[in-house]
Amino acid sequence: MTRLVFLGPPGAGKGTQARLLAAELHVPQIATGDMLREAVAAQTALGLEARRYMDAGALVPDDVVVGLIAERLAQPDARRGFILDGFPRTLAQAEGLERLLKDLGQGLDRVIFFSVSEPELLRRLTGRRVCPTCGSTFHLAFAPPKAGDRCDRCGSALVQRKDDREETVRARLAVYATQTVPLLDYYRDRHLLSTVSGEGDVAAVGRAIRNLVGRPA
Ligand code: AP5
Ligand code: MG
Ligand code: ZN
Repeated sequence: MTRLVFLGPPGAGKGTQARLLAAELHVPQIATGDMLREAVAAQTALGLEARRYMDAGALVPDDVVVGLIAERLAQPDARRGFILDGFPRTLAQAEGLERLLKDLGQGLDRVIFFSVSEPELLRRLTGRRVCPTCGSTFHLAFAPPKAGDRCDRCGSALVQRKDDREETVRARLAVYATQTVPLLDYYRDRHLLSTVSGEGDVAAVGRAIRNLVGRPA
């Protein structure tokens, strides 16, 4: 199974797990949030448009993200498979993805939903620190960097994502509840949905996912 969607609320651990499993499966981790943050940093036209939505904790318009994914899935490295991390997150995006994959003669193997309680999500997001250079993710309490405020992998100074401030986190959780939760039924109806508890530690969640995709650790 190599065509996967990681679905779940902000802070559920999608990025943490997608990064590990993608490396193991030799498929790309395709994270719309990361792609949009790169566009913001590069100050492209797309980045300038996306930024307004991201800073407010709102979703970037569907046509913009579906366009990004269409380009990305057409790249040769996505032919063998992929992990979509944070896409789709509206019904319109799910329908867009279904059309794109149909045109490519592909289909999804599984959609993995990360179930995590709201208090835990708040703890994870407010304590998250990220490396602006290599993209590694840390947590002040749960995955602390060895050298204080520097990245273990590349030594860069870690930063807090702008949208990880508490008031923006609350907006993101509300957007998730109204716009993304309907995807659970959408994929359940298509017999693609599996749920994992995202509440255990990183290794335990990883084991649950590997069991589902047929790669028990
Ligand atoms: P995006 O970057 O996708 O953010 P998100 O979905 O809100 O999810 P996060 O990245 O915050 O959480 P995660 O599940 O990846 O958790 P992580 O592994 O980092 O999107 C950002 C914005 O971009 C959106 O608000 C929107 O504006 C725009 N956007 C993106 N995609 C879009 C789309 N498709 N359509 C429209 N707009 C879009 O973990 C979180 C923390 O917890 C970390 O500190 C980590 O170290 C820690 N942690 C992870 N696992 C565990 C564990 N098991 N135990 C303890 N701590 C853990
Ligand atoms: Mg993420
Ligand atoms: Zn780094």
